[in-house]
This record gives sequence, C-alpha cells and structure tokens, in this order.
Amino acid sequence: MLNKKKKRMIKRNLKRAAIVGVPLVILCAITYASITSLFPSGESTYAFEHYYDDPSYSGSTSEYNNINKATGDSKVDNSKEEALEVITGHDKVVLDTNPESMTVLVNKELRLPSDYIPGDLVVPDVNFSFSYYDEKKLMRQEAADALVKLFDGGKAQNIILNGVSAYRSYERQYDIFTDNVKKQGLEHTAKYSATPGFSEHQTGLAIDVSADSVNNRLDETFGDSIEGKWLAENAHLYGFIIRYPKDKTKITGYSYEPWHIRYVGKPLAKYIYENNLCLEEYYNFKPSTDYSDQISYDKLVDYGIDLADVMEPTKAPTKAPTKAPTDKPEKNTEEDKNTDEDKNTADDTKDTTEDSVKPTKKPTGGKEDEDTTDETKDANTGDNGNVTPTKPPKGHGTTPTVTPVPTETVTPTPNQDEEITPPSTDETTDEETP
Ligand code: DAL
Ligand code: ZN
Repeated sequence: MLNKKKKRMIKRNLKRAAIVGVPLVILCAITYASITSLFPSGESTYAFEHYYDDPSYSGSTSEYNNINKATGDSKVDNSKEEALEVITGHDKVVLDTNPESMTVLVNKELRLPSDYIPGDLVVPDVNFSFSYYDEKKLMRQEAADALVKLFDGGKAQNIILNGVSAYRSYERQYDIFTDNVKKQGLEHTAKYSATPGFSEHQTGLAIDVSADSVNNRLDETFGDSIEGKWLAENAHLYGFIIRYPKDKTKITGYSYEPWHIRYVGKPLAKYIYENNLCLEEYYNFKPSTDYSDQISYDKLVDYGIDLADVMEPTKAPTKAPTKAPTDKPEKNTEEDKNTDEDKNTADDTKDTTEDSVKPTKKPTGGKEDEDTTDETKDANTGDNGNVTPTKPPKGHGTTPTVTPVPTETVTPTPNQDEEITPPSTDETTDEETP
C-alpha cells in the first residue's frame, strides 16, 4: 500500500520534471548551435579585424588556433593572447600631437614642449653598448617592455642587438646638436640631428640600436649588417618602426637612419611596415617647405640656440687624437659612436668620468617660448602642452649675420662623450640633401 503510494509520487514527479526539463534542454541546444555557427573557430566577438599578440604569427585567428593545435606548440601561451586592432586606412586619421601618446608625431616642424619629460621612464633590461648608468638608457615603460621582447626575439634567432641611445632630455639634445654643429657644420648636422625640442628621443619612445658586428656604430653599415636587416624586417612585430627610411628622406627631413627605431605600438607599426610608409605619410603630414632651406645659422636663434654654443671651441685641443681614423668615414652625427671604447672602460670608473651623465645646459635665448606663442593657436596644436608646429624661421633668404668658423679647422677631441666623426668625404647618393 505504502509502496504503491510512493511509486505514484515518483511517477508524478518524473512527469513534472519532463514537462520543465525537456524544453529547457531543447532551448540550450538551440542556443549552443547558434553560437557555434556564428563563431565556428571559437573566435572572439571583436567587431574590428584583429590579430594576436604573437610576433611569429601573421595569418587569421582561426589559422593561428589551427597552427597551434597542429604543432602542439607548447611555447605559445594562448591564455596571454591579446586581441589587437588592425588599422585598415589612414586617409582620415587625425594628427596626434599629444606628447604622452604612443603615436605622437614629432618631426622637424612639430616640436615638444621644452619642459616635457615623460613620467614613466625606466631602464629596459636589455644589452647596451656601454655598461654604466646614463639617462640615455631610459625609455617609457611600454616602449621599454616592447624593446625587451624585440631584443629577446632577436636573440632567439642569434641576432644580438645593443641599445646605444634612448631618452634624451631637451637639454641633452641641445648639447648634442650644438656639439655636432661645432664639429660637423650645420648642413651635415641637420641631416641627422634634431634641434632641441624637435627630437623624438625626448618622448622616451625612440632608441638608437646597433650591434657588436659593426662596433655599435650608428651609421649605414648597421643597416647592411645581419642585425640591421633583421631589425628592419622584424621591428614592427614588436611595435617599432624604422623611423627614417632610406626612401623617405624628403618627407622626414633626415637621412636614412637604420639604427633609429621608434615605438608606436603594434597595430600602427604593422600598418606602416606593410604599407611602406613613414610616420609623416601615415598622418598625411606634408612638410610646409623644402627642408634644405629650413635651417641656417642666422635662424638658429629661432630654435632657442645660442650662437655662441655652435662656434669654434675657444680652447684648442691639447692632445692629438689617439685613435686612428677608421677606413670608412662615419657619416652620422647623431650620437656618440665611440661606444666600443665605452665598453672597454670599467663600470666603476665610468661614473666618475666626463663620459657619464653630462651636465645639462639650458639655452640662454629664451626665444623659443616667444616663438611658440602664436603656434599654440593653430588648429593642429590643441592644448599648449601638445606638440606644436614651429614658426617658419625668420630672415629666410637673408645673408647670415653670423659667419661660423669653418668646421674643417676643428679637430675633434677623442674619447669624449657624444664625440662625432668628421664629415664624410664620400657621401653616397642615399644621403640626399633634403
Ligand atoms: N636623429 C634624430 C633625427 C634625432 O636627433 O632625434
Ligand atoms: Zn636616434
């Protein structure tokens, strides 16, 4: 009797469960089928095209997943995949003049505020051509992290790169530029070295790199080296671009610099590389004038440069250079190329020599700030803290009021930080006059 009652109860409950459960199961099945038909390979739901944060990968997401399954590649950690935007066009792109932005454009006409110092500078954990601490080891955190990955990526393929010069303060760029003008003359210097405020080294997003195979020189021999070639073909996979390509000198205003890389982030680096652009072209930025007549000695004051700082050194060098000239004259004037000597110097002594952090010098003119006043109102400039277009130098086409001492009479002092080599006598046709 009791058993019969129990059985009836169980039967009733089963009937109820079937009434609720069966439609629920059907509903779940329908939902699952719709989802899998929409995303057959398990791709994410990003509306834009995307690729994954794996430099070795260049195909579609489903291909990527299949490759990983097929090879069973345990090195690729899929949990760390990061969907990245792919840039598909640049005709409507807005010029980026925010110094804090990873994609900011700084060039011969777009300057940074002279007091701009990035707030997140760190020393990237990579090889440098010198072992002592110097401000020029610094980069912004994101760029530094990307640099570590870039150098590690190289190492995995037996490509050993060395950092040579990364962040530069406004003051340090002032010293480099004026030293270079003194030793190489303005025309040559302007092809390689930015006037203070106009160098993207001040953003903390750029670094000059080289390799032991070319004695860490910053010249075109690096571009021809195995390391330079690898860098040109792979930098974009890590978010860097070769900022001053050989075929863009008229647009960038600088000679070919295979050693100068600039972090812009992976989507933009990939786009620029694949479309063979320079950063100016990406932003549809057209130089307002032929760069060749943009700088002359009489215009330096408009760039905040004290003419006394570009004149012949008052004190003649006391010693003849001890280093024999190299077979091939170096052409670059951007930075110190005696980094092999730096390397041979003991670290502990280095910090106490003049080769360590140099004292900085403030330009005396104060002209620069005056000259930027109007430009801050320009449509491209945005806020005062942004990168601003420079005012066309005054006195265009007039006879220079200051005649510089011919650079040929200056003997470079050896073993000096930021030493530069004499101007090349066999400049190639690549080094066009912009
Ligand atoms: N060599 C690049 C142009 C600089 O001085 O910033
Ligand atoms: Zn550089």
